Amino acid sequence: MLLKHLSLTNFRNYIRLELDFPSGLTLIQGGNAQGKSNLLEAMVFLATGKSPRASSDAELVNWLVRDEPYPYARAAAEVMRAHKEDQIDITLLPNKGNGRFRKQVRINGVNKRAMDLVGVMLTVLFRPEDVHLVSGSPNQRRRYLDVALCQMEPAYCRALSHYQKVLSQRNALLRSLAERRTSDVGEQLRYWDEKLVESGSLVVARRLWLINELAKEAALLHLDLSGGVERLRLRYLPSFDPGQQPRSARTPYPSTQVLRERGVEYEELSVEQVSASFLAHLFAGRSRDLAAGMTLLGPHRDDLGFYLGDRNLRIYGSRGQQRTAALASKLAEVAIMTRVSGEHPILLLDDVMSELDATRRAMLLDVIPMVKQAIVTTTDWSYFSPGLLQEAHRLQVKDGQVLFIEGAPPD
Ligand SMILES: Nc1ncnc2c1ncn2[C@@H]1O[C@H](COP(=O)(O)OP(=O)(O)O)[C@@H](O)[C@H]1O
Ligand SMILES: [Mg+2]
Repeated sequence: MLLKHLSLTNFRNYIRLELDFPSGLTLIQGGNAQGKSNLLEAMVFLATGKSPRASSDAELVNWLVRDEPYPYARAAAEVMRAHKEDQIDITLLPNKGNGRFRKQVRINGVNKRAMDLVGVMLTVLFRPEDVHLVSGSPNQRRRYLDVALCQMEPAYCRALSHYQKVLSQRNALLRSLAERRTSDVGEQLRYWDEKLVESGSLVVARRLWLINELAKEAALLHLDLSGGVERLRLRYLPSFDPGQQPRSARTPYPSTQVLRERGVEYEELSVEQVSASFLAHLFAGRSRDLAAGMTLLGPHRDDLGFYLGDRNLRIYGSRGQQRTAALASKLAEVAIMTRVSGEHPILLLDDVMSELDATRRAMLLDVIPMVKQAIVTTTDWSYFSPGLLQEAHRLQVKDGQVLFIEGAPPD
């Protein structure tokens, strides 16, 4: 997969940008706050329909144009995969003057839903803050799994969005039932349980699959990256045991705390297998849910554990160990996406060189040829060898403008 051309209008600090990209390695140098991250953000936005860091789309619209009578921002890309060219275009348009923006997505000139972007452009982004993948909240790890799976499987994306809707409806029902005890509690919950299981089981089964795949690849990559002997283990940490029925209504699931400390491995399961166990666990946990006024188990409570030997890296890992584990798992994602889609995702590395020591930097650069295109930002050219600088396509970004650097490698 190749990004051939990127166009931006009023996107962050880019008022107007038209930029071609070759295959292979592109290095983009720039000082702080010049627009390096904004550029990679635009690429991920085009690939997934979502910014990896903005909490609202309005943040993406250039400040200077926001007060204009009709402010808008646009990002567009020409991408190429297997001899097929696609044009992706996302325009943010003002939403009835309430300060918000709505997305208009077009693929090859035809209006589409954001969900239809799945697979048109595949990217894997790695940033210094991705160390939070290991050290941060479960929410960040779920998001990581979701972004990866959504890029690979439209069905996953649909199930996830359906699950979230049903979950909030079931929670609303639980809250209202806590207030007024009605007689048909069981029947009403049963309806929502089934709906929840319908979409939630696919989410659980596919996350389990992805984590097991990531675990295999990441363990190998981690050995290279760490130069160490300790094996990295990635483990799915579900809120209920998807492979087993609850033992009794009193103990709806085994102490997940214990399972989470050690990180047990789950065999791959079919959606049907997960459905049966999810439904039974929901049933067994019903009185707990009613008491809490919310749904206490399901994929919205999932987590992903990183272990080195027996130690949970979230709790015991050093910053360096956490970063290496996060990097190994991102690179594993590249390998899996390539295998599943038959396309190499575009590898985006945002300013990660300064965070790595010389050995890990060299190892990271070694895996770049694994993809067809890598776009790497840096504050400093000196992180790269003269040979690599010579080979790479070099760009410089300054205050939202991008220049091509010709001739001899810069000092
Ligand atoms: N909506 C926006 N409109 C205009 N400028 C923005 C907007 N959002 C962020 N910026 C600015 O863009 C600049 C570059 O940001 P960024 O790409 O994160 O820098 P870096 O090169 O350090 O990665 C920053 O000065 C930031 O304040
Ligand atoms: Mg940055």
